[in-house]
Amino acid sequence: MMRPYVIIVSAMSIDGRIASKIGYSRLSCPFDLKRLHEVRASVDAIMVGANTVINDDPSLTPRYVKAEKNPIRVVIDGRLRIPTTAKVIRDGEAPTIIVTTEMAPREKALEIARFGVEVWVMGRDRVDLGKTLERLYVERGVRKVLVEGGGRLNWELIKEGLVDEIRLTVSPYVFGAGTSFIEGEGYPTTSEGPRLRLRSVSVCECGNEVVLDYVVDREGIIKNGHVTT
Ligand SMILES: NC(=O)c1ccc[n+]([C@@H]2O[C@H](COP(=O)([O-])OP(=O)(O)OC[C@H]3O[C@@H](n4cnc5c(N)ncnc54)[C@H](OP(=O)(O)O)[C@@H]3O)[C@@H](O)[C@H]2O)c1
Repeated sequence: MMRPYVIIVSAMSIDGRIASKIGYSRLSCPFDLKRLHEVRASVDAIMVGANTVINDDPSLTPRYVKAEKNPIRVVIDGRLRIPTTAKVIRDGEAPTIIVTTEMAPREKALEIARFGVEVWVMGRDRVDLGKTLERLYVERGVRKVLVEGGGRLNWELIKEGLVDEIRLTVSPYVFGAGTSFIEGEGYPTTSEGPRLRLRSVSVCECGNEVVLDYVVDREGIIKNGHVTT
């Protein structure tokens, strides 16, 4: 299977949360936001989960940096729960693809399509993320995808072995509860999860955040800039 290179970028509290118990998620300083937008400007597509659109209503454009083009926005929404008022549907700033399943209401798909947004059905009751990435690669020429959460989508992608790199900003806050950076059934021990190799670590220009870059150790899998699994 040919698929794009997949990077998760996220900011988390020191206790590993990307959002508080009430869904508050503003953890990035202005430097970190600029860094995120630089990554946005360097990829072909940006992927998020349904809850992130419902809670944050992000526009997912690289507006804090000079970008040649806006990447395709891809929302994984198995039941088409996101509102049609969402910026990714309404603002027309970039192409958007909503990826869903056969379980989604047909009328909602038609309603979304009326805004010129594509709806892909990629599975019966779960979105097949591997096939979705493959389709983005083959039909849209997508070679690099930035995943901006949330925790549930991060877990699904990691569980499927579809993540190549993780860039994490640790912000100096404590939430104590809320959404974890990776939110799923979990692994019983360290042996079952992906093997990560620390590529770089730096202190943010603000002086109070740490930026970690981990790559998933999968020797020999990336060939000629393409990922084959
Ligand atoms: N700090 C940060 O950097 C950061 C970044 C992004 C988000 N966030 C925060 O994270 C929170 C959202 O995280 P979350 O874990 O609740 O949600 P999420 O990952 O944004 O979305 C999860 C939902 O996406 C759908 N989904 C994911 N994988 C799927 C699949 N394979 N097939 C079908 N549907 C799939 C599911 O919808 P269904 O249940 O309908 O099937 C699932 O409930 C928000 O509060 C947001 O503010 C923080």
